[in-house]
Amino acid sequence: MSNYHIKHLEEYFQVYRKSVRNPESFWEEIAEEHFVWRKKWDKVLEWDFSKPEIKWFEGAKLNITENCIDRHLPTRGDKTAILFEPNDPTEEAQHITYRQLHERVSKMANVLKNHGIKKGDRVCIYLPMIPELAVALLACARIGAIHSVVFAGFSSNALSSRINDSDCKMVLTSDGSYRGPKTIDLKGIVDRALDDCPSVENVLVVKRIDSDIEMKEGRDKWLQPLLDEAYSDCVAEIMDAEDPLFILYTSGSTGTPKGMVHTTGGYMVYTAYTFKNVFQYREDDVFWCTADIGWITGHSYIVYGPLANGATTVMFEGVPNYPDYGRFWEVVEKHKVNQFYTAPTAIRALAKQSLDFVEEHDLSSLKVLGSVGEPINEEAWHWYDTNVGKHNSPVVDTWWQTETGGIMITPIPYVTPTAPTYATLPFIGIQPALMDEEGKEIKGNQVDGRLCIKFPWPGMARTIWANHDRYRDTYFKAYEGMYFSGDGALRDAVGYYRITGRVDDVVIVSGHNLGTAPIEDAINEHPAVAESAIVGFPHDVKGNALYGYVILKETGESRDRDNLRKEINQQITEHIGPIAKLDKIQFVSGLPKTRSAKIMRRILRKIASNDAADLGDTSTLVNPEVIDEIKENAL
Ligand code: PRX
Repeated sequence: MSNYHIKHLEEYFQVYRKSVRNPESFWEEIAEEHFVWRKKWDKVLEWDFSKPEIKWFEGAKLNITENCIDRHLPTRGDKTAILFEPNDPTEEAQHITYRQLHERVSKMANVLKNHGIKKGDRVCIYLPMIPELAVALLACARIGAIHSVVFAGFSSNALSSRINDSDCKMVLTSDGSYRGPKTIDLKGIVDRALDDCPSVENVLVVKRIDSDIEMKEGRDKWLQPLLDEAYSDCVAEIMDAEDPLFILYTSGSTGTPKGMVHTTGGYMVYTAYTFKNVFQYREDDVFWCTADIGWITGHSYIVYGPLANGATTVMFEGVPNYPDYGRFWEVVEKHKVNQFYTAPTAIRALAKQSLDFVEEHDLSSLKVLGSVGEPINEEAWHWYDTNVGKHNSPVVDTWWQTETGGIMITPIPYVTPTAPTYATLPFIGIQPALMDEEGKEIKGNQVDGRLCIKFPWPGMARTIWANHDRYRDTYFKAYEGMYFSGDGALRDAVGYYRITGRVDDVVIVSGHNLGTAPIEDAINEHPAVAESAIVGFPHDVKGNALYGYVILKETGESRDRDNLRKEINQQITEHIGPIAKLDKIQFVSGLPKTRSAKIMRRILRKIASNDAADLGDTSTLVNPEVIDEIKENAL
């Protein structure tokens, strides 16, 4: 019998050892006993990190939707698969059963097919958190189309560059979306994006806010009438385990986003197995992950991981502060949520409000509290543990990435003793290593270094869409034979890991991964801007916020500074989205540069963080004199 559900600490250590000593037979057992395959694999694992090439369950045939839906029908047909909680609490929640999900996915899959979408085609999904979003992912998977979800807070520019990078044939969107008291004109954003996207043939539009929108003849259609006419059964396309399931873009250290490619078999096995254990999910539990499906957290732990386990997964359309700051707790009480998974930034924002918002609600259904996306500081951890969990629900601080597909370092609740700010121990099958800057592994405990992974796991991304070289260079070049995460970490006396943050030019703002380079590119397009440098600095709610140092062209020098700041942020909103706006913008006459013309960001980070007393070695700068000016005028 495989160890699908780990229940105590000795079992964790025993299973962990097994998974590391003999990964192939370990994962083979899990895959064999807990999933349905149309054909078994010829080989469990084939890998070479130098190329890099990673194949799990090669030769196996399956369809992930048969695992997430069809196989549950005989025993869980009337069980709620997706529990939709709308933005407006007075609008009724929807309980979509596995049987209804089967019908809705089949119909949408048939609509896609009727519009010429075939196995391997890319479909861009730009939808708010409504059931059609989850249905759209599964409908693509049903017919073997590759979905590329773009978070519906990204701007038209960001959307078009993602559509073009993977030549999407179709866009699924809605007339608009609700966000607390506001509505957002999503279709308008899509229209602007598509001015520049020759590959898109059709746009199918969900009616959500009932707004008056323009429909482009021959390109745009309302989705509902098409669904009404579609057959309610759709034969699942049989896929190879290594066929791509989806592309999801994440930012990087250079301008263009990276389209991380996840494949079918390994991703399914890994998300399902982590879901079961990290949340200790039991039949009839209600699981709620507050992320948006536009991010990997939503892909893996709203859609695929829960559904592969036949779970009930909550999809929440709203925001934590609408109609007031008690909304999360109201929803927990209303739906008797058992596992709650959110980001530290939300916890910090809620911890600033009156405790009455929490205490008004009965949270006794909760069994597990999860945290993801950024380091959770000690204060937020304790607030969560005390006020939400009442010291009765373990806090699982889960470290992972878009690239890793699923959770990598985490406590297992009721199994691993937790410790504030520690993601604790590697998950089953995960072999972390800390590396020094010279490329040597740092062994032993009470050490810190750069976090790498030594051995493949089934959920890892296989490539970057249309750019395999970038995949190799970003993740497999810094340390030979290792996957490099881009994060720093320490390992304490008992072997627990704490993630210390990014060691590259990515800043995590409110749990969102933002590359500084694309933001700089956006700013530099402003006609008054000559050059810019963006760094992160600590922020009490967002974790990090962005600080911009901007050099103006001569023509910009006479301009009103506050107006310019607004225009710069507007420029960022248009190019990327409001999540990437700068909190502070300082105009400077120069940026500290080395002889090789590289900006010394270390110094800028210290000044932005109000920590400029010791700037370290500045002897390699060609223009050390700018430092005093920057320090003097720091915001
Ligand atoms: O820096 C780490 C941080 O988020 C990065 C990955 O971002 P993304 O690909 O958007 O995925 C976020 C959700 C999985 C990581 O490189 N991060 C994520 N979880 C944690 C974290 N930092 C500290 N602690 C965590 N639990």
